[in-house]
Amino acid sequence: MAEHPAYPVGLRLTGRRVVVLGGGQVAQRRLPALIAAGADVRLVSPEATPSVEAMADAGEITWERRGYADGDLADAWYALIATSDTEANERASAEAERHRVWCVRSDDADRATAWTPATGHSEGVTVAVLTTDAKGRDPRHTAAVRDAVVEGLRDGTLVAPHHRTRTAGVALVGGGPGDPDLITVRGRRLLAEADVVIADRLGPRDLLAELPPHVEVIDAAKIPYGRFMAQEAINNALIEHAKQGKSVVRLKGGDPYVFGRGMEEFQALAEAGIPCTVVPGISSSISVPGAAGIPVTHRGVAHEFTVVSGHVAPDDERSLVDWPSLAKLTGTLVVLMGVDKIGRIAETLIAHGKSPDTPVALVQEGTTAAQRRVDATLATVADTVVAQEVRPPAVIVIGEVVAVGRPGTA
Ligand SMILES: C[S@@+](CC[C@H](N)C(=O)[O-])C[C@H]1O[C@@H](n2cnc3c(N)ncnc32)[C@H](O)[C@@H]1O
Repeated sequence: MAEHPAYPVGLRLTGRRVVVLGGGQVAQRRLPALIAAGADVRLVSPEATPSVEAMADAGEITWERRGYADGDLADAWYALIATSDTEANERASAEAERHRVWCVRSDDADRATAWTPATGHSEGVTVAVLTTDAKGRDPRHTAAVRDAVVEGLRDGTLVAPHHRTRTAGVALVGGGPGDPDLITVRGRRLLAEADVVIADRLGPRDLLAELPPHVEVIDAAKIPYGRFMAQEAINNALIEHAKQGKSVVRLKGGDPYVFGRGMEEFQALAEAGIPCTVVPGISSSISVPGAAGIPVTHRGVAHEFTVVSGHVAPDDERSLVDWPSLAKLTGTLVVLMGVDKIGRIAETLIAHGKSPDTPVALVQEGTTAAQRRVDATLATVADTVVAQEVRPPAVIVIGEVVAVGRPGTA
């Protein structure tokens, strides 16, 4: 018979009988997708792998512990033949043909009437890849094509905008600490689909250079605010662009809700009736120390870590931080926005009982090419910051964890 290409189709199996013959590795790989499709799966096999057995124990499939018998495929809509007994596979194949049941054969793709594509999913789309004909079958290649498409869709390097489901509105996207690889998959995809991006100074600015030319990129720091506060001007810009029916991404450093004023923007959008999605990001408070070899917790060293803003000094009446209590904690203290005030912070911690020898590390521009780490102690940090010209943005870590991963201390 002349070789024609396979005809791709999506089977809607909810509640429909699917018979699987053989409970080995092939069944183990294929069953989860059949279960996810809602199929009424009947497994016929004398044995099964522990994973397949667990699916039966959980009631996800029914398992008849015996070999194939003629008639097993009578009320099936679809069959997977995957036993190690070639003769049984042949008989089952012949039965499938008689009953016109589409059937996949793991031992002989040529004799099968259906092939399983390499599949993957991304945001409401199933990608299924088949080779054109039996001669050209190359499962590794189809899997590689599938991976390339799914990964590309997930990380936004393959741009396929949603047209029907894309709603105008704003996504508050946490961009992570700066390395463009440290944004979430969802954040990157939304960025790739945006009409307008309003970005902060911090975060993955390299990603902005990759955006197509039609995307309007606005530097949040440069939005003129005249009679408004800067934050109000940003809120207004978000609202105005969204009202024009555009898809707007507000790209923020780290996580939008960690000292990021994300909730203020969310509330302003809600008041204006603009739909808003919030995409979490990797906060610099954990990732920047980590990038410099500092774990914020370590067994036997620190069982807690506290993240504080150091943007106002401890004796400033606007400060909401209870520095005397923090001085009594034994865990790690992570200070954001604290470079300018670190001298006063260190003094206050020492005055309330923290040892002057407590190790301190400042990690400037973490996860970027310009990352640098400067070490000190509470007693020396004020002078060190000046002598080493440490500049924001930097994350300051105070506590014994600083010494844990230090070269020569492992
Ligand atoms: C306004 S806060 C925003 C924090 C952000 N939402 C987060 O979750 O990481 C800005 C502060 O975060 C810290 N920061 C953010 N990114 C950083 C980076 N790549 N390296 C060092 N510090 C960073 C600095 O302390 C900076 O002053």
